Amino acid sequence: MHEEPWDRTPIEPQSVDAPLSTAAVFLVVTIADGDDAADRAREVVSDIGSLVRAVGFRDLNAHLSCNVGIGSDAWDRFGQAERPAQLRPFFEVRGPVHTAPSTPGDLLFHIRAERPDLCFELERLLLDKLGDSVTVADEVHGFRYLDSRDLLGFVDGTENPTGASMSRAALVGEEDAAFSGGSYVVVQKYLHDLTAWSAIPTELQEKIIGRTKFDNVELEEQPGERKSHKSLNTITDANGVEHDILRDNMPFGRPGQAEFGTYFIGYARELWVIEEMLRHMFVGDPVGSYDRILDVSTAVTGSTYFVPSNDVLEGLGD
Ligand code: HEM
Repeated sequence: MHEEPWDRTPIEPQSVDAPLSTAAVFLVVTIADGDDAADRAREVVSDIGSLVRAVGFRDLNAHLSCNVGIGSDAWDRFGQAERPAQLRPFFEVRGPVHTAPSTPGDLLFHIRAERPDLCFELERLLLDKLGDSVTVADEVHGFRYLDSRDLLGFVDGTENPTGASMSRAALVGEEDAAFSGGSYVVVQKYLHDLTAWSAIPTELQEKIIGRTKFDNVELEEQPGERKSHKSLNTITDANGVEHDILRDNMPFGRPGQAEFGTYFIGYARELWVIEEMLRHMFVGDPVGSYDRILDVSTAVTGSTYFVPSNDVLEGLGD
């Protein structure tokens, strides 16, 4: 068939760049043993676009989206000829005081919308389709809190890259051409001790985060001062080039159960960048000077996935 110029479509990433939403679901599942379960899961994820369209069409203004992440073991079980160059499991990060555990997860579904009911509906239909091919390992329903604050009371997400810098930070490029348009994603569920946090004076909280609390202005650090969360997560390579990631953290919680948390999600072009951030936070930079956010935040899950471009995702069904 004759190929028209518009047939040569550019690579289409999943909705990695979806704007921060009002509601989100983070669903992590493991795939049951056996080829049948792996085949079923592979077919369902390859066709997730049709489910998102079916639910999302009911209110297009709600901008429903769903990113599918595939873990390292699951990728192998899906029997593909090639693998994303940097896909590897989440390795525990053990610091002198705090540890980032590695927990099970074969598939991640990051569902976002302006309406929590659409997130719910998509998750319901998706789990129905997956049936007993998977077991839910973790499920968190997040909400946008006030003016995009986390439950520690700070505005979260300000320094996220946008536009072309977003693509540069979050999407694989020519360096791994078969997987360009994909993204490595790391998730961690943190539980906060809000009583301990609120006992810390605001001025010290601001030094811990690296920004002012009320008006969200970045703070300069004095030489020799212990690094803030912001500085620990500023990653510069040997050539002085800064490497960023794209985050869409969401608060979650049940005050009646005294459960307060932040669900961390970071998308990166290069997985090592997130791994280095975690090393800085948990081990410290310099070693021992860990992120004091962790004194009131316990990481209870941790897993890594690859979010392939839509073309690669759909191709998994072939
Ligand atoms: C308890 C969990 C966490 C909370 C409550 C939290 C909160 C925040 C806040 C309030 C900021 C400042 C505003 C902003 O630019 O977004 C921030 C910045 C940042 N965080 Fe986190 N964060 C958490 C975990 C993480 C983790 C696990 C990573 C990476 C592995 C990370 C990476 C970053 C980065 C890269 C920045 C931007 C630094 C900059 O360039 O200024 N955060 N975080």
